[in-house]
Amino acid sequence: MFGARCLLRALRSCSSAPCPRHRPAARVSVRGALGIQSANGERVKVQAFPVKYKERHPLEYLRQYPHLRCRTNVLGSVLRVRSEATAAIHSFFKDSGFVHIHTPVITSNDCEGAGELFQVEPSSKIKVPEENFFNIPVFLTVSGQLHLEVMSGAFTQVFTFGPTFRAENSQSRRHLAEFYMVEAEISFLESLQDLMQVMENLFKTTAMTVLSNCPKDVELCHKFIAPGQKDRLEHMLKNNFLVISYTEAVEILKQASQNFTFTPEWGADLHTEHEKYLVKHCGDIPVFVINYPLALKPFYMRDNEDGPQHTVAAVDLLVPGVGELFGGSLREERYHFLEQRLARLGLTEAYQWYLDLRRFGSVPHGGFGMGFERYLQCILGIDNIKDVIPFPRFTHSCLL
Ligand code: 4AD
Ligand code: MG
Repeated sequence: MFGARCLLRALRSCSSAPCPRHRPAARVSVRGALGIQSANGERVKVQAFPVKYKERHPLEYLRQYPHLRCRTNVLGSVLRVRSEATAAIHSFFKDSGFVHIHTPVITSNDCEGAGELFQVEPSSKIKVPEENFFNIPVFLTVSGQLHLEVMSGAFTQVFTFGPTFRAENSQSRRHLAEFYMVEAEISFLESLQDLMQVMENLFKTTAMTVLSNCPKDVELCHKFIAPGQKDRLEHMLKNNFLVISYTEAVEILKQASQNFTFTPEWGADLHTEHEKYLVKHCGDIPVFVINYPLALKPFYMRDNEDGPQHTVAAVDLLVPGVGELFGGSLREERYHFLEQRLARLGLTEAYQWYLDLRRFGSVPHGGFGMGFERYLQCILGIDNIKDVIPFPRFTHSCLL
């Protein structure tokens, strides 16, 4: 028993590559398979540890071992940065006078209206025949926004930071089925300009805090995973973010010499290839794209009442290496506009409570959501979103 414990300790110290801050004074090197004697005299074979000390395993290789990869240098640093960034985001909002709200994980709303929902049901044994556990169909949340809007009517400035779920059939390097979203909602906010200021401040203040609180961890990522990222990040932090309208963005794309898989045209969504091009075009400085076509965006966004190209007061922030990092908007606070939008979508009944928020005292307000994993990718220069979350969940994969 004692031997097994010693062996485990030895294995742990040789396999977990040292973290930058706590270098061990001595190391034991163990190679190949080992044999140990169990208490009843039986010989037990110990498998070689799949993560080799001093070997730089590709992140893709380490992904097979979500239970062991946290012991490596790189994942150790990434996860410490993740922890620091979480604390920095909470401090940012606390210092700016926001109230933290725990929005529900189980909900009956599809906030974004995109139908990317995971339905929640009891397992078959508990199921009451012909009935739903909650009487209505319920889902894992795709966004806490609507619940935050409820709270912004009481607390003025609110935020939430929690797990978010989307059944997007995507294996891309920037999509997860379970990710963390930072969302804020601000009452008495009347312009996208004011909203963008909060988004930019959140991005920059959090990055500066992370850089000053765990420089060695950030340096390790910048040095070994993303050479050149240090300069790219400095470039983002020292420049004011840019602003272009969706209409301008489409014009820029149309004039590009590059051939896109999806031909850019007014009224169509911007794809990753378009986002990448726009960020490059803007000199690798994050760029806000504002005022999207009404038909492309969810019911809650404020109508700009323009034409003939009808837009809403929406804003996305596009950043180098990642593309869309934030999505936000002014909210439609005018009862009759909202009522008509909901009626056209056949949602009036389901959203009576949301209409109540306008019926019983409504103020101009707006908010945004930032994908936390995409933020870490952007700061650290990590190519694949699966490497900035401890236990990634995506289509066809839910290890552990
Ligand atoms: O643009 P989205 O869909 O906005 C909303 O959900 C709003 N209701 C937020 C709000 O205004 N309160 O999502 C916000 C951000 C995206 O910009 C992206 O960074 C991230 O969430 N995101 C994802 N991150 C990882 N995996 C996915 N499948 C993601 N889907 C969105
Ligand atoms: Mg979006």
